[in-house]
Amino acid sequence: MITAESGIEKVLISEEMIQSRVRQLAVRITEDYKNQTIVMIGVLTGAVMFLSDLSRAISLPMEIDFIACSSYGHRTTTSGEVRMIKDLSHPVEGRHVLLVEDIIDSGLTMRYLEDTLRNRHCASLRTIALLDKPSGRKTIIQADYVGFTIENHFVVGYGLDYAGLYRNLPYIGVLKP
Ligand code: PRP
Repeated sequence: MITAESGIEKVLISEEMIQSRVRQLAVRITEDYKNQTIVMIGVLTGAVMFLSDLSRAISLPMEIDFIACSSYGHRTTTSGEVRMIKDLSHPVEGRHVLLVEDIIDSGLTMRYLEDTLRNRHCASLRTIALLDKPSGRKTIIQADYVGFTIENHFVVGYGLDYAGLYRNLPYIGVLKP
């Protein structure tokens, strides 16, 4: 029988590890932003699962919005072309923005989004990524909050895909070769 897990070689980060780290991060964020209203911005599509769990564990007044970028070519070229394909639904001027990513690999998406959002004069901008893969970097960038730092694996699950599949796995896994 073909299941959601066909194609997975091993579990890298279990569902329990993810959920426990999400709760830790949520406690820190709730403390760091005490008495403030935030806007969580999820980068489609990969960050949807992470944003969904993280936002429900954070005890702050918040709005949620989404943005999408095209990653066309940016894994294979050094020019690092990133393009916005869906903008936010609401302005962020004067708001405390927390940008939520599933993974930082080359860093080019995060670099582009940070620059774009800063130009819109947020009151503050911080970034969070569930996964950080420093070996892939093509630009110097670091998220304010990181769930897990990983080696140079191609990972799927919990929002991350291969050819559109595997996003619905509750854990982070490594694909069979
Ligand atoms: C992935 C991921 C990040 C970006 C990270 O998105 O969700 O947004 O790539 O890579 P980078 O650090 O090298 O820029 P992708 O473009 O694959 O779209 P998806 O979220 O819809 O899967």
